[in-house]
Amino acid sequence: MNRFDSPQAAREWCRRGSRSGRSLGFVPTMGALHAGHLGLVRRAVAENDVACVSVFVNPLQFGDREDFDNYPRHFERDAELLESAGCAMVFRGTPADFFPEGDDLLREDPGPAACGLEGEQRPGHFAGVATVVKRLFEFVQPSQAYFGEKDFQQLLVIRDLAERLNGPVIVGCPIHREASGLASSSRNERLTAAERERAACIAEGLFAARECWQSGERNAQRLLMELRKRASNGALELEYAELRDPLNWSRGPLTGTVERAQALIAASLGKVRLIDNLRLDGTHS
Ligand code: PAF
Repeated sequence: MNRFDSPQAAREWCRRGSRSGRSLGFVPTMGALHAGHLGLVRRAVAENDVACVSVFVNPLQFGDREDFDNYPRHFERDAELLESAGCAMVFRGTPADFFPEGDDLLREDPGPAACGLEGEQRPGHFAGVATVVKRLFEFVQPSQAYFGEKDFQQLLVIRDLAERLNGPVIVGCPIHREASGLASSSRNERLTAAERERAACIAEGLFAARECWQSGERNAQRLLMELRKRASNGALELEYAELRDPLNWSRGPLTGTVERAQALIAASLGKVRLIDNLRLDGTHS
């Protein structure tokens, strides 16, 4: 596996590959890789001639300096995992490598999918994500790019962005869950074993709402009540729980009778913020 310490070196490698007509699958990450990331990488490997990964903790998408500083980083371990997953190239770089022009004024419009939920709780977050993803696409010029559905709203923002840029095909991949149901996340590393167990009630709330749907409930308030009841746990601070139309984000929070629904939730456990979501009608978006 090739390893590069700058996106400029990675760009040269990608250009050589595209001149020889190979399809390139790309998985952008912030490192601290877990089973969910490796699932994306294996899929990118299986569906393309070659696959590559970026590891960059993007400062533009963090509002909170402490969260940025505490974000787990271990590149050597990540590189070993990527090699065993069949990745052909990994690259990283400094903020100055990614944004040589300076990043003060540089912000991509994240579009309408950035409204509400994460966009509201983390002002500027999606503009930071859209800015770095646009830059990553410019460096790599992938045929297909792979993102997890755990960051459901991010996936919508990136689909919009790729369409506007005439960029790669965006492949959304199902959430990987630990045995307890907890969605895999790099932030889980910062939870103690006991907190990890407690955090499983976030997924339990989502599963309870889906069971409710499966038994015929279609009222948004009652579905949400079920979600909140099961997800609430003394140790967790619930930030939001909402139902949205996965095919029409701009409809905003759903109320009344719903024909399809994505349940989305955010909660904090101590200093660790966790998000999760589930399509209640059981199909992938
Ligand atoms: O989902 C992530 O890990 C990040 O938001 C991404 C897409 C790599 C951009 O920094």
